[in-house]
Amino acid sequence: MGDEPSAAVRIETPRLVLRELRVEDWPEAQVLDRDPLVVRYQLNDVLDEEGTKKYLASSVLAASQSPRQVYDFALCLKGDDRLLGRVGLRVERPEHREAMVWFNLRRDHWRRGLASEALRGLIDFGFSQLGLHRLYGDCDPRNVGSSGVMEKVGMRREAHLRENWWVKGEWCDSFLYAVLEQDWPALRSAQQ
Ligand SMILES: CC(C)(COP(=O)(O)OP(=O)(O)OC[C@H]1O[C@@H](n2cnc3c(N)ncnc32)[C@H](O)[C@@H]1OP(=O)(O)O)[C@@H](O)C(=O)NCCC(=O)NCCS
Repeated sequence: MGDEPSAAVRIETPRLVLRELRVEDWPEAQVLDRDPLVVRYQLNDVLDEEGTKKYLASSVLAASQSPRQVYDFALCLKGDDRLLGRVGLRVERPEHREAMVWFNLRRDHWRRGLASEALRGLIDFGFSQLGLHRLYGDCDPRNVGSSGVMEKVGMRREAHLRENWWVKGEWCDSFLYAVLEQDWPALRSAQQ
């Protein structure tokens, strides 16, 4: 987590490549952003083309910051550079080596274990390359896909926060999941 500009990151997992986002990804990213089921438990509502382009531009800009705190990747199948989803992390408290993770995926690729595989790759990267100590994510308890992914990779549910978000006209609860660097090697090898 030094001050020098960071080089482009590319993470490989058995089936996937996680690569840096580009503004040119917008047509594929729109497939995600305009899907009401994909954004159902996100803070934002569906995005139009301009919204998707703005999001991608802000991620590209964040990737160029030094020290870099945001790593927002396109999730692609190996051998096919098209974005199917996004997975990323933001270093929120550098002095505590803690980051928040997120992930989403096109609906026509759900339930193939792809988000879990991508999150595993991201966690490997966070601990081994960024020297992080703790990675956490949160989700609405009704979002069984999201909690399922975090449980499948071995993140521990640490809290059920009651009505801590006002989203889309209602109070929403959150599950908080986390994994620590010292626990990851054993969790990781149990999933090989
Ligand atoms: C969350 C999301 C990325 C999951 O992607 P995915 O590739 O389908 O997830 P996985 O196949 O790795 O599933 C992991 C586990 O989660 C659970 N799960 C995933 N989707 C589920 C669903 N629709 N219903 C019930 N359980 C589900 C299962 O336990 C699954 O393990 P299993 O297939 O071995 O039973 C996808 O549903 C999505 O994009 N949702 C909308 C965006 C979102 O909510 N992102 C998270 C914000 S906090």
